[in-house]
Amino acid sequence: MRLVILDDYNLASEWAAKYIRNRIIQFKPSADRYFTLGLPTGSTPYGCYQKLIEYYRNGDISFKYVKTFNMDEYVGLPRAHPESYHSYMWNNFFKHIDIDPANAHILDGNAEDLEAECRAYEQKIAGAGGIELFVGGIGPDGHIAFNEPGSSLVSRTRVKTLAKDTIVANARFFGNNLSKVPTMALTVGVGTVMDAKEVMILITGAHKAFALYKAIEEGVNHMWTVSAFQQHPRTIFVCDEDATLELRVKTVKYFKGANDSSSVLILLTGEFRWLLSD
Ligand code: GLP
Repeated sequence: MRLVILDDYNLASEWAAKYIRNRIIQFKPSADRYFTLGLPTGSTPYGCYQKLIEYYRNGDISFKYVKTFNMDEYVGLPRAHPESYHSYMWNNFFKHIDIDPANAHILDGNAEDLEAECRAYEQKIAGAGGIELFVGGIGPDGHIAFNEPGSSLVSRTRVKTLAKDTIVANARFFGNNLSKVPTMALTVGVGTVMDAKEVMILITGAHKAFALYKAIEEGVNHMWTVSAFQQHPRTIFVCDEDATLELRVKTVKYFKGANDSSSVLILLTGEFRWLLSD
């Protein structure tokens, strides 16, 4: 596990975007070798998407040979609703880059048969060769995607009923009206994300500090589903200083020191990728 601590939200967003950019460039995607990227929605990844759009506009990166799979989508919210995850992804990312829309996958929360939709999504991921890098975000209750507290840690893509905490947290996108927030969603499972070759989880803000503590300093616990990624061989938690408020000083110092050492190694070797793992 790796914990990367940046001073603030903007720097954390930039670090994450550079990591994604570098991974795609190093992969050398082509017509017969697509890079598969798992993606989240929410306010946290917004800055990362802004940076990726900037890199695309500068000519640093192309998404022509990238396939994306989003983590989740509300059930029953029209696709064109401004708060659907379809709208979020198109407005904040996809329409600004050169991805082929056929390669940008998002669960259909209006499918006639939701279970069949979830099964088909798993098959599409498998058909694309699995996910190379799954980028995720979490809720303040430690849920990843919509894997609410108590979810199975080996779960696959399925229909989930949202927890009250999640409905309250997301009410801000629906005029703070709890009754307007959808109560169900389709979500990839914890097991679906665990299958990715690499996982990068973005956690920013003091309101996520307790969740970060639960994610990395306590044991794996299905009531804090993000903690499952302690058992993934390649997980990077990217956070800002505010999100570290509940961590032990020892933990923060260790990871800050470890990242400083990796910077030296990067300078010496030019190797961007996993310099630290345990
Ligand atoms: C929702 C989504 C998650 C997302 C979380 C955090 O619950 N299902 O995928 O990570 O919100 O959102 P934000 O980044 O806005 O705090």
